[in-house]
Amino acid sequence: MGAGHTRFGVLEAGPRTLLRTAVDGAFASLDHGGGRNELGEAFLATLGFGGWQIGNSAAVLLEEATSVGLPTTRVENACASGGFALRAGVRAVERGDVDLVLVAGLEKMTDVGSARRRYWLGVSGDTEWERLAGLTFAGVYGLIASEYVARYPRAREALAEVASKNHENGTRNPNAHFQKLVSREAVLEAPRVADPLGLYDCCPVSDGAAALLLAPADRAHRYTDTPVFVDGLGASSDRLAVQERPELTRFEATRSAGRQAFRDAGIESSRVNFLEVHDCFTIAELLALEDLGFVEPGGAVDLTLSGATRATGRLPVNPDGGLKSKGHPIGATGVSQAYEIFLQLRAEAGARQVAGAEVALAHNVGGAGATAAVSIFSRG
Ligand code: COA
Repeated sequence: MGAGHTRFGVLEAGPRTLLRTAVDGAFASLDHGGGRNELGEAFLATLGFGGWQIGNSAAVLLEEATSVGLPTTRVENACASGGFALRAGVRAVERGDVDLVLVAGLEKMTDVGSARRRYWLGVSGDTEWERLAGLTFAGVYGLIASEYVARYPRAREALAEVASKNHENGTRNPNAHFQKLVSREAVLEAPRVADPLGLYDCCPVSDGAAALLLAPADRAHRYTDTPVFVDGLGASSDRLAVQERPELTRFEATRSAGRQAFRDAGIESSRVNFLEVHDCFTIAELLALEDLGFVEPGGAVDLTLSGATRATGRLPVNPDGGLKSKGHPIGATGVSQAYEIFLQLRAEAGARQVAGAEVALAHNVGGAGATAAVSIFSRG
């Protein structure tokens, strides 16, 4: 029914202000106004990065949104928290006993020093074999990218194209953390972070919040003339430690969540007009295209280098700049993907509008593939 979003980036505002701004934006976007006193339940996606409010943080959402006195639940599945909170919100709507459900995502990441930042990023990876051994998420995705680059010719070039494309898309998104062009050459020459991934292959550390308002389809007209429909949901998980998995370059959680979402929506992938995928590192965008069934393993290289995933291509991917350029405030990301889809399907995305957008898919991953949520939306 409605959606709100803060700027993503290194922000002065604290967590409560970010939440309030996103939620106010969501209520303000309702075509017929009102809505606050009709709220029946709320979900907050957040990791609680930096420890700003480790327990019971979802209560703060209602304090900032409306008033206390309603059920509210925190959803935490690392970087996939937003996608899972959306799923929880849709399930609450399907119960039929609430009119309006609020789903918000939040992370405040930039007000801690680098050692604590590494700790809070690391806590969502495997503790015994990865974090305590010094392996970061950039390190895990670097291992995955090494294997992928060794397997498929021109893969390194395709990774650079993902970064360059998403940075270009970010220049058309006023909420994006980065709004600067980065050439493929600059990506390849950037300082290494975790070989073969360099600075521009990584998402940044960002602050931000996003919020959605959901209602049963048969009550949509109360709130808006142009609802966006959630047609299919899928969610799954995999072994937490990458060393326990049979394949490095395949995320089983994405594959299974994607199959469920397409089955639930009753459509084939050819019906999807554009995608919001979880490009926390450039390699993750290529894997998403393959695991969601848009191409065979290795096929994302040619698809990406052909320009098909650019904003004006036949299958735009991450028109808002993706995690790479828009930023990745952990709990907010999955909610922000749905925000972008909400704008696009209502033809309200301005300079970055995808022409003829009718069906879109959001893909949100927790950690290095341990959890995944996939959602399919349409303009009805
Ligand atoms: N992409 C593009 N530019 C980036 C960037 C990124 N990911 N991260 C930082 N920068 C830029 C900054 O804006 C700054 O530019 P400036 O000098 O023009 O102001 C410069 O690079 C240095 O920034 P700094 O914050 O000192 O970088 P850093 O070395 O501390 O951090 C990374 C760089 C890549 C290590 C950090 O962004 C990171 O850890 N990203 C991954 C986050 C993550 O793992 N999230 C979970 C995913 S599963």
